[in-house]
Amino acid sequence: MRKKLVAGNWKMNMTAAEAAATVESLVESIDYRDSVDMVVCPSYLCIPKTVELLHDSHIKVGAQDVFWMPKGAFTGKVSAPMLKAAGCAYCIVGHSETRGRFGKLEIADTAVSHFSETDHTVNLKIAALLEQGIVPILCVGESQVERENNMTDAVITTQLEKALDGFDPDELDDLVVAYEPVWAIGTGKTCETAEAERVCAMIRIVIGEIIGTSHAKGIRVLYGGSVKASNAHELFSQPNIDGGLVGGASLDPKEFAAIVGAA
Ligand code: PGA
Repeated sequence: MRKKLVAGNWKMNMTAAEAAATVESLVESIDYRDSVDMVVCPSYLCIPKTVELLHDSHIKVGAQDVFWMPKGAFTGKVSAPMLKAAGCAYCIVGHSETRGRFGKLEIADTAVSHFSETDHTVNLKIAALLEQGIVPILCVGESQVERENNMTDAVITTQLEKALDGFDPDELDDLVVAYEPVWAIGTGKTCETAEAERVCAMIRIVIGEIIGTSHAKGIRVLYGGSVKASNAHELFSQPNIDGGLVGGASLDPKEFAAIVGAA
């Protein structure tokens, strides 16, 4: 039986003071249940304070990204040993926004190449996180154009195969995968429940082909893309959807608590 997981991705929102206020309100709003794991992923700068405030709670802290080298001359980067030392238990990897694939583009087309994540860098980042015992939350998903061209399953299969290449199946037992259709992220357009379930089931089959079906049965597959309190219960009731990766709605403690309640 897979335990549900609800992860909040705060993206580039909140100063440390705002994050502290949000965390305090979250702790008051969340009705703790043993059946759900909870994670919040603030910006790097807010991680230390968030870890401190959540120390006695059941809510874990994650990062939104990582660099794969442990240390060195990599200006602006943060390594997995640094995240570990700061108290991170999880880290999002390969989010569509780090891949330069935006549901709602708020920057110039010509600046998108700044976000240069590839399937290969995702693979390197997963290895760096596993080495530190940090659970990767691997994001996969198709764009609107890929969906319209019936490429959804092929795109996700390639993302999974490349991200998970070269690992021993035992190493990946705690891995979390999030199905995040790019067109549903931050757009208010949620994937139809039946389709989200179909893709999450397909993801589990593909993972089974990579690491074996017995390992794949234990892997948590989340849905992400405009999850909110009003649609969370239906999504999380599906047999292959083990919780959610929540962006916008995770910024509001009461809404996030309601989503956790739905899980
Ligand atoms: P959203 O973002 O819930 O705001 O659509 C989800 C995500 O990017 O993880």
